[in-house]
Amino acid sequence: MAVNVAVVGATGAVGEEFLKILESRKFPLKELRLLASKRSAGKKIRFCGVDYTVQELTKHSFQGIKIALFSAGASISREYVPYALESGAICVDNSSAFRMDDDVPLVVPEVNPHDIVKHHGVIANPNCSTIQMVVALKPIHDVARIKRIVVSTYQAVSGAGLKAVDELQRETASILGGKGDFKRNLFPHQIAFNVLPQIPQNDAFLPNGYTSEEVKMVNETRKIMGDHNIRVTATTVRVPVIRGHSESVNVETEKKITAAEVKKLLSAAPGVKLVDDPANQLYPLATAAAGRDEVFVGRIREDESIDNGINMWIVSDNVRKGAALNAIQIAEKLL
Ligand code: A2P
Repeated sequence: MAVNVAVVGATGAVGEEFLKILESRKFPLKELRLLASKRSAGKKIRFCGVDYTVQELTKHSFQGIKIALFSAGASISREYVPYALESGAICVDNSSAFRMDDDVPLVVPEVNPHDIVKHHGVIANPNCSTIQMVVALKPIHDVARIKRIVVSTYQAVSGAGLKAVDELQRETASILGGKGDFKRNLFPHQIAFNVLPQIPQNDAFLPNGYTSEEVKMVNETRKIMGDHNIRVTATTVRVPVIRGHSESVNVETEKKITAAEVKKLLSAAPGVKLVDDPANQLYPLATAAAGRDEVFVGRIREDESIDNGINMWIVSDNVRKGAALNAIQIAEKLL
């Protein structure tokens, strides 16, 4: 059944990827409506060989729309999702606006597809760092029950949008060109040749010293896994990579599971690609994950400091599985 689809934030990093994925997966589209800010109204975007004109997002944008894919930030979602719902659209929202609402399913199709049916018009797409982690951890949780997760992320700048990619590229060129006059607009410090332990870059730290990204990883992991007893602690870090988030993940399980058993489990897990051949220097890399759909897992080894612990390295394309692909997989399940 072909449906009318609106993409909110069509000119952004995730919006661009939505269009690539809708095209490559031959999503059954009747009408495609591209929405962005007033600044982009009238801009042409090519999709399946046809030029589409970007329209300004207004409260009237959703008439006749069946599925609205939102990726223009939480404040836009808060303002416009209600209008989309009024028009009868189902919203798949990539922002954090509704993720923790009790009546909004937070879905990763490989992990909790059954939650989709509980929706009341809005299905939330989780945070990019959370998505790739739970895809890799759910099979382990099912077998050995994860008690605690300690994660540190190495997140690409594309997670902060196209302006962030542009800032990294221009700053890198400026430094390599020996110019000392680069003016930053987005990041609070130099991101080129540097590592920033603050995501998002413009949010105040919380009173307990964590960032909102770190809190998202804690709360969203529990909600998606459907287990509020899992203890999670996160440190989220921006690195000068354009595409692909990497994560160092340590899990402590209730039941003993060996590294060999984890490798076997993950080699058959949906959405996961095991890349774990250290003797040949093969392990997941952001450069190899960029543009790919899978969550890549490697460096799997037992944590020798505790009885039941596993360490691993998890990498995925943050704009694809971490955002656009996951949302479109949800939309496909809805159909
Ligand atoms: P625009 O390009 O017109 O500013 P990114 O995550 O790459 O920064 O992209 C953000 C997306 O959200 C863009 O498509 C951007 O459109 C869109 N957006 C930002 N502000 C608004 C707004 N006020 N109304 C509609 N879309 C918006």
